[in-house]
Amino acid sequence: MIWMMVLAAYLIGSIPTALWMGKYFFQVDIRNHGSKNPGATNTLRVMGKKAAIIVLLIDGGKGMLAASLPLIFNVPVESLYAGLIAVIGHCFPIFAGFRGGKAIATTAGVLLIADVGMFLAVYLTFFTVILLTKYVFIGSISVGIAMLIYSFFSPNIEEPLIFTAFIILLLFLHRSNIQNFFNGSEPKITDKKGRDR
Ligand code: G3P
Repeated sequence: MIWMMVLAAYLIGSIPTALWMGKYFFQVDIRNHGSKNPGATNTLRVMGKKAAIIVLLIDGGKGMLAASLPLIFNVPVESLYAGLIAVIGHCFPIFAGFRGGKAIATTAGVLLIADVGMFLAVYLTFFTVILLTKYVFIGSISVGIAMLIYSFFSPNIEEPLIFTAFIILLLFLHRSNIQNFFNGSEPKITDKKGRDR
């Protein structure tokens, strides 16, 4: 039963929302435009606000559904960890050649179900960092750091190692953003269209 739940969480996370939104509704391959990332931020650049909100909600919904699976399958797995399996699916989706997004929307959905306090603390940090720096990717990396810091203060969460691994994953997923930042081509959130990179 646990393995079926793990598989279900991975498959839910693997649904490539931004890719299919571009393909079926806008006739574009998002992987060839903007940052080329199939996520909500790049959907905003390539397909506009409405499409981005829908992608954000569906990607977040994937995390919420996956985090609810332990209850649905009646297995003794923390909803946070079930949700994180969907995050792996979102980043390395079987339905899109293992080229997925950068984890942030799906992680939000997971935390909303698993630990509302953590969700509020982490995503308040996310928006504050973006407001201060104007760079989405710095906010995104701060999500992992905020999760790690929060885990030290929460009696419910025993595994800071998981969050350290998550920070490493976020740094890996944002490697092109970091590179672009240092060569001056990473667009700020205020840079309306962004650039093809
Ligand atoms: O959440 C995604 C964000 O951190 C970076 O997106 O499209 O600018 O690479 P993007």
